Amino acid sequence: MKIGIGNDHVAVDMKNELKEYLEAKGYEVVDFGAHSSEKSDYPVYGEAVANAIVSGDVDCGILICGTGVGISLSANKVKGIRACVCSEPYSAKLSKQHNNTNIIAFGARVIGIEMAKMIVDEWLNASFEGGRHQRRVDMITAIENK
Ligand code: RB5
Repeated sequence: MKIGIGNDHVAVDMKNELKEYLEAKGYEVVDFGAHSSEKSDYPVYGEAVANAIVSGDVDCGILICGTGVGISLSANKVKGIRACVCSEPYSAKLSKQHNNTNIIAFGARVIGIEMAKMIVDEWLNASFEGGRHQRRVDMITAIENK
């Protein structure tokens, strides 16, 4: 599985640690930046990861900024993206099972690296359940297409 990862200047350290963690587990991680702690704008990275998912260059994405809010809002403006901010693993798992999220986001100023790893593990190991949830996800897509 190919994972796109993106972050702003606030989250470079957390991104690097997560990347190493995921690569050690055998995932291919494509890093869309930012690469330095010089001030940068989260919409750039949110959009880059979102576009890579829609084009099929990566299978899913992880986005990190200070809160996870700005970068996920940016990604959600791209058609076909379902990104959510999670600060704990339960919502992360359910967001895949019920909402078929293709991006998980969190805040480097909100949670620590160990919580981030747990969130990512639960999310990556969960599968969309389809069924009644498919109809609701289709309704979200219909809003996007209005
Ligand atoms: C940058 O200071 C901060 O605004 C950004 O990382 C993020 O938290 C925005 O949602």
